[in-house]
Amino acid sequence: MSGRDDLQQKIVSLCKRRGFVFPGSEIYGGLANTYDYGPLGVLMLRNIINDWWSFFITKRKDIYALDTSVLMAPQVWEASGHTKSFTDALIDCKECKNRTRADHLIERYLEENNLLKDVEGEGMDVLEELINKHKIPCPVCSKFNWTKPRRFNLLFETHMGILEDNKSLAYLRGEIAQGMFINFKNVLETMRPKLPFGIAQSGKAFRNEITLGNFIFRTVEFNLAEFEYFFNPNKESWEEVFNYWKDLMLEWITSLGIPGDMLKWRIHTDKERAHYSARTEDLDYSFGFGFKELFGLAYRTDYDLKNHMEKSGIDLRYTDPETGDKVIPHVIEPTFGISRVFLALLNNGYYEEKERLVLKLDKRISPYKAAVFPLVKNKEDIVSKAQEVFNELISKGISVDWDDRGNIGKRYFSQDEIGTPFCITVDYQTLEDSTVTIRDRDTMKQERILISDISNRLN
Ligand code: GAP
Repeated sequence: MSGRDDLQQKIVSLCKRRGFVFPGSEIYGGLANTYDYGPLGVLMLRNIINDWWSFFITKRKDIYALDTSVLMAPQVWEASGHTKSFTDALIDCKECKNRTRADHLIERYLEENNLLKDVEGEGMDVLEELINKHKIPCPVCSKFNWTKPRRFNLLFETHMGILEDNKSLAYLRGEIAQGMFINFKNVLETMRPKLPFGIAQSGKAFRNEITLGNFIFRTVEFNLAEFEYFFNPNKESWEEVFNYWKDLMLEWITSLGIPGDMLKWRIHTDKERAHYSARTEDLDYSFGFGFKELFGLAYRTDYDLKNHMEKSGIDLRYTDPETGDKVIPHVIEPTFGISRVFLALLNNGYYEEKERLVLKLDKRISPYKAAVFPLVKNKEDIVSKAQEVFNELISKGISVDWDDRGNIGKRYFSQDEIGTPFCITVDYQTLEDSTVTIRDRDTMKQERILISDISNRLN
């Protein structure tokens, strides 16, 4: 096992052991590519989304938020092109029935043999030719006996109502963007925004992914956050808007502690680019298994609004308040894979030090901001003072853990593992001078501060 696989395994096991992420449907033997966030994982996930929300929505006046339905009229996906073009290439091993993505099979093989080539988006013929040329064996049974590669659609189908017929067909949303495009007119009419402006949301998207592995990196349902930034192409150049958001995407992720040298922008090739995009760049993070996509930034032109206008017959143009001209706005779309940010922050924060395992998460992201301990468990006045400190902090809305098991050293290490930035101990001296010890996760230094100064320190 390489050091990188090793790190990934350690993170998976920490996540399970400490309640960050559990395999989905575990008591029934699991369901491929699904995971459940545990008590600590959900706190961390919410902290990431809240920080994103604050940075891109609350602190700006040009972005309006929505929360739209997972299920939409099937025409949405026809107009957006997803029923036709949202596809991957699939291939089956005739020997062991292993089903996999043809492009991933080839990329993995070429990578292992130091023959780097990006084959995402290549046609079926090219994929088949590459598999045959290199005689790429099945990674499960090592035989070479594949079906021809064929396209399959990533949209999850479901049925509304009680009849499973064509009329009741619906899709779980394959991207959250469409909910924002189809509400464009509603936002125009209720908020009266002036171009340029954005419509944002965060929520789950669903894709029928067949490639297994890499933990929460690729799952069938995952958390996304994104916005559509609409602008008048006659007044602004798409390149300027694109680069403006490119800088801010980087600023946000580095503000969470991911160093710049672990991130790399990558331009999509013409073949790889999604059907709606005239330019796409991914921000890749150096995960344990290589540089892989964390965010995407796309210039969607007027593709979506134009197609929804045609299909719905509703005018989705914007009227310029100065000139009265009607225009279909163009769109730059910054997309943030929140589940992947979660994984990247765990990768980035995981340290094995001499005597401890520590998750150096940014204080904004850690599940708990502090833990409160009574020095001893059997001294009633110490325990009740510690409870007082704990209650005061949670009453201020600060996420705090309580621990009175084992000795203080063990409690510190237990909090280090889950990334708690501060541990507060109430001891005998507290009863005399209302001070506590506060211990810093990263430096492991302890100092005494007044109880009345704790919440300031945590902030
Ligand atoms: N609206 C544009 C859009 O959805 P995308 O590149 O298809 O763009 C956006 O997906 C982000 O979602 C990606 O940058 C990636 O971080 C994340 N993502 C895509 N597929 C995923 C999956 N199966 N599991 C987890 N995250 C995924």
